[in-house]
Amino acid sequence: MLLKNRLQSKLPNVGTTIFTKMSALAEEHKALNLAQGFPEFDCSPELQRLVDKHVRSGKNQYAPMPGALPLREAISKQTFEASGSEYHPVTDITVTSGATEALFVAISTAVHPGDEVIVFEPAYDSYVPAIELSGGIPVFVTLDPQYDSIDWGAVKACITKKTRAIIINTPHNPTGKVWTASDLQTLAALAEAHDLIVISDEVYEYIVFDGRAHISVASIPSLAERSFVCGSFGKTFHTTGWKLGYCLAPAHFTAEFRKIHQFLVFSVVTPFQFAVAEYLSEPEHYLSLSAFYERKRDLFNDAIKDIGFIQKPSEGSFFQNVSYANLSDENDLALAERLTREIGVASIPVSAFYGRETDFKTLRFCFAKHDETLLKAAGLLNTARW
Ligand SMILES: Cc1ncc(COP(=O)(O)O)c(C=O)c1O
Repeated sequence: MLLKNRLQSKLPNVGTTIFTKMSALAEEHKALNLAQGFPEFDCSPELQRLVDKHVRSGKNQYAPMPGALPLREAISKQTFEASGSEYHPVTDITVTSGATEALFVAISTAVHPGDEVIVFEPAYDSYVPAIELSGGIPVFVTLDPQYDSIDWGAVKACITKKTRAIIINTPHNPTGKVWTASDLQTLAALAEAHDLIVISDEVYEYIVFDGRAHISVASIPSLAERSFVCGSFGKTFHTTGWKLGYCLAPAHFTAEFRKIHQFLVFSVVTPFQFAVAEYLSEPEHYLSLSAFYERKRDLFNDAIKDIGFIQKPSEGSFFQNVSYANLSDENDLALAERLTREIGVASIPVSAFYGRETDFKTLRFCFAKHDETLLKAAGLLNTARW
């Protein structure tokens, strides 16, 4: 009893995530799991061979704290080729335990108690707990999951003297929206005018559709100089289980970032860093990703097109949102659970990505699945009762 009184939760509002809940329900009902936000297929055999090579060649002790140098050099080259921005491997790039660690450390580095941080919701679920653990206050700009454009007026209205940082995510999970050049220019002007730190989550940077380009904050000098850019190899190489990511930031930001990174994990898994460094030398390995996923998006969308959902094709990421507002009034969580139980297809209710209770009557489906899984799931969705 005494012990119970002593331990006061630092995250009293955090419970079991919807991802864990939906995956458990999918497992229980042997449902096709389009809720899980990770690939159903394996990474390339070549990448597996490279890991094997580096494990056998003795790359099994601690990597340097900022990351294995060949990997930081490869990231620097890749970033320069993608966005023309120069990040020095020694001073500006840190290899992290997935983008989740990069985001957590960037937020911890930037946010002090009482600082306000602007978060666009729906949002990836790690941002808000990280802000709160630093004593910061999340300030939400709420977007409809089917939004057409960012309401910059609403963003401006949120800025106060206490606003320290803004978190952005493009391509976006869960909406599949990709920010335009104009969005980034507006962000740059706002960030400069209010001296904001930008934390940019770009884990889906190589998954953009219909000829769109991913525009990194790294490619806009006035943004790059005030930003932490967080990336992940998990999404790019179908290796989410490796938890290998990175953070790009100017040297003085990186120096502070590394002070926290070194006491959180010190360094991350060595042979995998060497393997990815080598694998990155062939740009086709990541430049082919958009076409790979665009075909899957189209396959899935085509197979569900007669159901009557309101569905705008995803612009990027491996998520497709559908609104069923014109088919049913059912609450999105209740519907996602019922579809899992009744027809055996699991999805994520998009309300789960909002800070407070909402119901936009929208479900998120992950199409990083085998074609057969997508077609089977679509077939079952066509039989559903709405
Ligand atoms: C938007 C977003 N950011 C960050 C992450 C986490 O990336 P990682 O697995 O590299 O930690 C995810 C994973 O789903 C994501 O969707």
